[in-house]
Amino acid sequence: MPAVTSPKQLFEHELQDMYYAEKTLTKVLPKLAEEASDRELSRAFTSHLKQTEGHVANLEKVFRAIGKTPQATPCPGIEGIKKEHDEFIESSSPSTEMLDAFLTGAAARAEHYEIAAYTGLVSQARALKEREAVELLQENLKQEKDALKKVETISKRILKQANGSTGNGSRVSSASGQRARTRS
Ligand SMILES: [Fe+2]
Ligand SMILES: [Fe+2]
Repeated sequence: MPAVTSPKQLFEHELQDMYYAEKTLTKVLPKLAEEASDRELSRAFTSHLKQTEGHVANLEKVFRAIGKTPQATPCPGIEGIKKEHDEFIESSSPSTEMLDAFLTGAAARAEHYEIAAYTGLVSQARALKEREAVELLQENLKQEKDALKKVETISKRILKQANGSTGNGSRVSSASGQRARTRS
């Protein structure tokens, strides 16, 4: 990486980092939607995938607005969140319910990461007086905040259901959000 010595260069670096993170999430979210057994959770992942594609497009517009070519630079932060998920799945053989509960936590971690990143990017764009960039980044930030609220609500319901169930990992058949499916 070339030396970063100006606010504009730092802004560009942070954009590249987030561009990588969002592109990674477009690949991860379909897998999470597939892993989730809870119907509402699975749908939330699918609808956030659509939003995430919009985040990628908005970031590309931000690059253009500041006269730069969209470029991704590896983001160890999002890779770490992804790795935490992958390792849990591999090592813990979670029951259907516990996997759903875990997925809400993994999603919340990713949203918090994105919210922190966009909050910083909006401040940087504002300081640089890049008005178009501010608007585009705020749009992404708002959707991340809404996505976090949604997953927190789903998480509370799933945990409540799980604590009301037998606790041995069996499926809660009466649970409103559960869809019948078999796991291989
Ligand atoms: Fe996003
Ligand atoms: Fe997100």
